[in-house]
Amino acid sequence: MLVSILLLAALSKATVTILDPSDFADLAADAADNALTADWDYAPLSYQAYSITGPYVYNDTSKEVSHKTLTVAANDTSVVVITEDSQVNISQSTVIKHGYSTDLYQSSFYGLNAAVNIANASVAYLDNVNVTVHNGAANVYVYGNNSYAYVSDSSLYSSGPVSHGLYAAGYGTVVGKNLRHYSGAYRSSSFAGDSPKGYVYVYDSIAHTAGIGSAIFYGQGTVYAENIIGHAQQAPIAFLDGSQIDIHESDLTAGLLAGVVTFSSGTRQSGSEISFTNSRLTVLPDEAAGLWFGNVIASASLVRSQINTTSGILAIANYSQVTQDFNYFAESTAAAEATITVSESALAGDLVAYNGSSINWSLGNYSTWTGKAYSGYGNASFSVSLDASSSWIMTGHTVLTNFTDADTTLSNVHSAGYNLYYDSSSAHNSWLKGNTQKMHGGGYLKPASKSQLRGSH
Ligand SMILES: *[C@@H]1O[C@H](CO)[C@@H](O)[C@H](O)[C@H]1NC(C)=O
Ligand SMILES: *[C@@H]1O[C@H](CO)[C@@H](O)[C@H](O)[C@H]1NC(C)=O
Ligand SMILES: *[C@@H]1O[C@H](CO)[C@@H](O)[C@H](O)[C@H]1NC(C)=O
Ligand SMILES: *[C@@H]1O[C@H](CO)[C@@H](O)[C@H](O)[C@H]1NC(C)=O
Ligand SMILES: *[C@@H]1O[C@H](CO)[C@@H](O)[C@H](O)[C@H]1NC(C)=O
Ligand SMILES: *[C@@H]1O[C@H](CO)[C@@H](O)[C@H](O)[C@H]1NC(C)=O
Ligand SMILES: *[C@@H]1O[C@H](CO)[C@@H](O)[C@H](O)[C@H]1NC(C)=O
Ligand SMILES: *[C@@H]1O[C@H](CO)[C@@H](O)[C@H](O)[C@H]1NC(C)=O
Ligand SMILES: *[C@@H]1O[C@H](CO)[C@@H](O)[C@H](O)[C@H]1NC(C)=O
Ligand SMILES: *[C@@H]1O[C@H](CO)[C@@H](O)[C@H](O)[C@H]1NC(C)=O
Ligand SMILES: *[C@@H]1O[C@H](CO)[C@@H](O)[C@H](O)[C@H]1NC(C)=O
Ligand SMILES: *[C@@H]1O[C@H](CO)[C@@H](O)[C@H](O)[C@H]1NC(C)=O
Repeated sequence: MLVSILLLAALSKATVTILDPSDFADLAADAADNALTADWDYAPLSYQAYSITGPYVYNDTSKEVSHKTLTVAANDTSVVVITEDSQVNISQSTVIKHGYSTDLYQSSFYGLNAAVNIANASVAYLDNVNVTVHNGAANVYVYGNNSYAYVSDSSLYSSGPVSHGLYAAGYGTVVGKNLRHYSGAYRSSSFAGDSPKGYVYVYDSIAHTAGIGSAIFYGQGTVYAENIIGHAQQAPIAFLDGSQIDIHESDLTAGLLAGVVTFSSGTRQSGSEISFTNSRLTVLPDEAAGLWFGNVIASASLVRSQINTTSGILAIANYSQVTQDFNYFAESTAAAEATITVSESALAGDLVAYNGSSINWSLGNYSTWTGKAYSGYGNASFSVSLDASSSWIMTGHTVLTNFTDADTTLSNVHSAGYNLYYDSSSAHNSWLKGNTQKMHGGGYLKPASKSQLRGSH
């Protein structure tokens, strides 16, 4: 059962309960399966080493299947394979898969062992199809240029590791609509893309993941999501590893690490971007940030959206990396540079940068920020910019490398007695002319000292 509705309860004293596939499953029977992890400690092969087979192979054909129960119980075997320019539609049917994958890299990159595998320029429509998998298998996997799967009015359930719900790779595209997803084990995200790029579009769906590293969205490629209610019990709502994730009208709850984790699994990449429009991100762990960036140059955009954290931290940029265990941050190759733009949103919380990382935070279109910025460890650099319609209510002394305010009288900064220190050597701050001035609320705007600019702790 997915109750992301704790917050609603606090506001309205009413609870809305949303059912997901775990409410119809025997979770106790799947507990051992969900406790399985996997061995990733070997070099992945860079080619497809196993053939993708199963009892129902549609090869260069056109077919409609309805009112069927399709099953298999075998390792490294799919139930349904739709391949070589096939066009296959499946409706009012049930797909059940048992059996393990011998090579999870092959599962990730080619869909080995996936219940339904659509590949090589094939197109499939799945409507009213319930896909249940055990022992670790993707529900619906799409691979290759010009391969498309459209999955609607369906339920996706999995137990066992690395069992993503919708999964696209190799430039394949999956489109989901009105889905209910549940996964019980680790590294089993609801809607996922994998290398070298998957395109994932999902609408009007419910997603619930229970395992570590199982996010609502795993982006390597593009993800577009609209009207999703999701709760990742032991993961952020999204991992971005070189990807674009665009979320609209959604209500998403994260249970581990951060609200969103943006990183590079290899050397530092740039270009990942996540955007939230008309959405709410709730972050439950005590110390977790809303948006977390490490070993990456990336951006985020928040439009008419909320981030509610327990920690009081909106964003962290760190000299760090998420490990392949997906449950802690470890030292890594490079600092993070995060650019976050906020429009028509009211946000409360802090910005924290570590060890050479930076955050560029810009508020526009009637936005309000209540918070401060500080170093978590070592050198930290922050840039804040406000348009004239936006405002900042300070909750602590803050040191900024760059500060721009379209309201040059600073009437939109409420200092609450705290000081705002700026780097008087930065070109962006030349408009402040090295001056010290009193701000609304009694605090001072002042040039920062060298030691303040180096960060603290
Ligand atoms: C599809 O059919 C062709 C021609 O019979 C065959 O060569 C190929 O191996 C088949 N592919 C799969 C995945 O079964
Ligand atoms: C599958 O469904 C789509 C969408 O409804 C339709 O355009 C297509 O003709 C169908 N294909 C087959 C093989 O029935
Ligand atoms: C799919 O599962 C749901 C419960 O999640 C059930 O209500 C529905 O009847 C199932 N549909 C099929 C086609 O099996
Ligand atoms: C299937 O895989 C499981 C787990 O690796 C293994 O224990 C089992 O022996 C395999 N079954 C067959 C028929 O190879
Ligand atoms: C797709 O085509 C490639 C190249 O012909 C082949 O190796 C692979 O097995 C095919 N995949 C599927 C799922 O049929
Ligand atoms: C598949 O699509 C990608 C992205 O559009 C393109 O770069 C690549 O060349 C295509 N591959 C093939 C085999 O057509
Ligand atoms: C920051 O990075 C350090 C070094 O990797 C790590 O030990 C620490 O847990 C990270 N903290 C956060 C909040 O990201
Ligand atoms: C979430 O955060 C927003 C902005 O700070 C605040 O207005 C709202 O009351 C918070 N909601 C809850 C349920 O805490
Ligand atoms: C901090 O950054 C330096 C490189 O500037 C790196 O060598 C060091 O390991 C980092 N320390 C931590 C705790 O991340
Ligand atoms: C911060 O990011 C915004 C949006 O990308 C950009 O316009 C601005 O120049 C950046 N500010 C600094 C100081 O880098
Ligand atoms: C303000 O909103 C408009 C319209 O949505 C958008 O084009 C513009 O980029 C926003 N500006 C800022 C500073 O957020
Ligand atoms: C501050 O501005 C300088 C000059 O444009 C830029 O190089 C630096 O990245 C900015 N710092 C931040 C934290 O945005």
